[in-house]
Amino acid sequence: SPNHSPSVAKELIETAQALLSPRGRGIYATDESPDVIEAAFVAAGHNSSSGDEMLKRRKDWRETVYSAVPSEYISGVILYPETLLEFKLGPILTNKGVIVGVRANGELAPIPASPFEFLVQGLDDLLTKLQAARAAGARFSKWRVPIACTSPALGLPTQTSLDVQAETLAIYASISQQAGVVPIVEPDVEFSADADLARSIEVHQRAIRLIFDRCARHGVLLEGTLIKPSYPQPGLKSPSRAKTTSNDIALATATVISNSVPSAVAGVVFLSGGLSTPVALDFLSALNKLVNASPRSSPFSRLPPLSFSYGRALQGEAIRHWVKGDREAMKESLLRAAKGCWLAAKGEL
Ligand code: 13P
Repeated sequence: SPNHSPSVAKELIETAQALLSPRGRGIYATDESPDVIEAAFVAAGHNSSSGDEMLKRRKDWRETVYSAVPSEYISGVILYPETLLEFKLGPILTNKGVIVGVRANGELAPIPASPFEFLVQGLDDLLTKLQAARAAGARFSKWRVPIACTSPALGLPTQTSLDVQAETLAIYASISQQAGVVPIVEPDVEFSADADLARSIEVHQRAIRLIFDRCARHGVLLEGTLIKPSYPQPGLKSPSRAKTTSNDIALATATVISNSVPSAVAGVVFLSGGLSTPVALDFLSALNKLVNASPRSSPFSRLPPLSFSYGRALQGEAIRHWVKGDREAMKESLLRAAKGCWLAAKGEL
C-alpha cells in the first residue's frame, strides 16, 4: 500500500474486519446532528425545548441508549463529535467491546452550478479532527454524500456532482487512514424522486465505480475501508415502487455491489435511509438469502460481507419509549431491532 506503514495498514485492516465479524454483526449509526436528534424527540412526543434542556436530554438519550447497545449484534457505533469529545461517552461502548466511530463530514452547501445538489464541507481541518477523535477512542469514521436520483428526463444527478462527490470521498478516505481511522464512504442515493429501479441501479453503479476509481488514485487501502451505500430502489414518486418486491431489491443490490465494489473492500454496510424497520430488515435479509443461495460459480458468492449501518431503523421505536420515560421498553425494542438486523445480515430472518 503506497500511503501506509505495515503497522498502520495492519491495524486498519483488523479494525475493518472486526466491524464485520462474527458474521451478522453490524453498525448502529447515532451521528445525527443536535437539530436532527431533537426533531426526532419532538416527533416522538417530547415538547420542544430550549438550549440547555436540549443539550441535557440528548446527552441523557445517548448515554441511556449506549448502555443498552447489545454487543452480540452491534460491532460499532457512530458518534456525533459532540458525543465523543464533549459528552465523552465513548468508554461506555469500548468497555463492552463495541468499536467507536465518529461522523467526519460537515454540513452541506448547494453546488452553485446545480443548486439541488450539495457539496459536503469539512475537508480543510479533517486530519486534525480525526486525530483528536482517535485520541478520544474512535477507530473508524464515516462521511456521507447525498446523491440526487431522478428519471433521466429530470436530469439528476449531474456528472459534475458525481465527480465532486467521488473526489471528496476519496480525499476523506485517504485522510482518515492517515489518522489511523478506518473510513466508511457513504454514497447515499436518494429515493424521494421519480427514478425507477433501472435508473437507481444505473446511478448507484456510476457513483460507486467513480468513488473507487478516485480512491485508487488517492492510494486508499481498500482492505481497510468500508462502503455504506443505499439500496437501489424505485423512488417514492415512481409508480413502479408499489410493484417492487424485496427479491427485486436484493437482485438489484447484489448486481450493483458485484459490478462496482472491488472485492478487496472489507465490507458493505447499508444505510436505512428512512425505510421502516420491517422493510429495512426485509431488504437486508432478502439480499443475504440470495447470496447464501448463490452457487460457487456465481459472482454473488464472492461479494464482501453485506451488513447494516442503520440509524432510524434501529432506534425509531426505542426513541418513542424513551420519550415516554419507559427505559425497559426502550432497551427491549433496541435489542429486538438489533437482533433482527443480525439475523437479516446472516440471511436467517
Ligand atoms: P439511517 O439508517 O437512518 O439512514 O442512518 C444511517 C446514516 O448514518 C445516514 O447517514
